[in-house]
Amino acid sequence: MNGQRLILVVDDEETQRRTVGSVLQDWGHEVLEAAAGQEALGLVKDHAVDLILTDMRMPGMSGLELLRECRTLRPDISVVVMTAFGSVETAVEAMKNGAADFLTKPIDLDRLEVVVGRVLEMRRLIRENRLLRQRLEESASGFQLIGNSRVMAELLSRAARAAETDATVLITGESGTGKELLARSLHDLSPRCLEKFVAINCAALPETLLESELFGHVKGAFTGADRDRPGRVAAAENGTLFLDEIGDISPLVQVKLLRFLQEREYSPVGSDLSLKADVRVVAATHRDLEAMVAAGDFREDLFYRLRVVSLALPPLRERREDIPELAEFFLARFAKRYQRPVRKFSAEAMARLMSLPYRGNIRELENIIEQAVVMAREVVIQAEDFPSRQEASPGGDAGLTAPGLDDVRGDLPGMLEALERRIIMETLAAFKGNKSSAARHLGLTESGLRYKLGKWQQGD
Ligand SMILES: Nc1ncnc2c1ncn2[C@@H]1O[C@H](COP(=O)(O)OP(=O)(O)OP(=O)(O)O)[C@@H](O)[C@H]1O
Ligand SMILES: [Mg+2]
Repeated sequence: MNGQRLILVVDDEETQRRTVGSVLQDWGHEVLEAAAGQEALGLVKDHAVDLILTDMRMPGMSGLELLRECRTLRPDISVVVMTAFGSVETAVEAMKNGAADFLTKPIDLDRLEVVVGRVLEMRRLIRENRLLRQRLEESASGFQLIGNSRVMAELLSRAARAAETDATVLITGESGTGKELLARSLHDLSPRCLEKFVAINCAALPETLLESELFGHVKGAFTGADRDRPGRVAAAENGTLFLDEIGDISPLVQVKLLRFLQEREYSPVGSDLSLKADVRVVAATHRDLEAMVAAGDFREDLFYRLRVVSLALPPLRERREDIPELAEFFLARFAKRYQRPVRKFSAEAMARLMSLPYRGNIRELENIIEQAVVMAREVVIQAEDFPSRQEASPGGDAGLTAPGLDDVRGDLPGMLEALERRIIMETLAAFKGNKSSAARHLGLTESGLRYKLGKWQQGD
């Protein structure tokens, strides 16, 4: 139904105002009252009023004047006028000026209910329509998944079918393959598309904070919890909850999440209260969860609960057919964003794009094209505007890439190592893979550098 709305009742006659106000309250609405037009306008400025019910004849500002003011100040508020019995002309005048409907006094409660219900329903439909339009425009202007290769077409058609349901989805794929974009598309194609999409990066927070971020906490649950706070699960009510980097959650949070997925119930930190949630869950990870289950690092029961539908995004190097379309798409996007007159790629430029290794997948392709667009001096992008194969795979024969800091956030030693690794990879790339020059530049011995590279290679 319409849910609770804020309704402002304006009438100089107190009993009249009170009666109408209290019935509306009985029907579950929140009500504000004003005895005059000016007072009503003041309230409108400070409150998110949905509907105004106003008397026509009042001292000072008349109902008609109030209506006109509201139509210019806050055209989003619906106004219903209450006219004395027999004064049809005023009602007609009000409708001409944009009133949503009118009621004649003495107010008939059945009719009040019908009119208020209809006006609120109308508002809901208008808002829904506007949101849908926005969504359509967004998807026409770039918010979309590109991929015509067979693997991607198949994956996207499975995704579209899963989107229609509330089934939990697990998205896997290397870094930069589009996991988050796919999660958003699942939401946008789902019946929940008008509700919220709430994302949480599970790797970014230490265990205790993650639990309270997800499920909320009550006042006094831990030091610093000075008031009750709802979590992301509550924020995603009726919508979609996206659990990014799910492979990084601790055993404790795994247990809590399992309960939540099994029963759709959870307790805020520090409370025994069991709360219900109507939330669709989509999770993603770049880790191999199956291997983690085998190694005892991830609960098997949770794994199966998450993987009701599993969507594995292939790395870009395994679907090179998609590169031209993606490249054109990014070219158009960045040319527009940076106001550059770049329009296309030369044949050699496209050939080079097709041949790069793309360890960073679509994100890497996106970055390469962004840089080329910014630097381009002509309408056509040339092969020289792109990195060569060697430069594109920093570390040369080592074939390593540095993990993003986001992958290890919340783990200081891990972050420092990722940083160290990135600096070394960038230095190696700058020296075209020459280890002795890179080591000298970094103040390391060559064997020290080789040792680190060897360690990381084993770790991968
Ligand atoms: N199929 C696609 N079509 C167009 N753009 C895409 C597509 N897939 C990914 N992208 C773009 O590539 C970038 C990386 O995508 P996204 O952030 O979804 O990857 P991810 O798999 O979540 O990466 P990570 O594991 O590093 O978090 C984003 O800018 C996204 O918009
Ligand atoms: Mg991501």
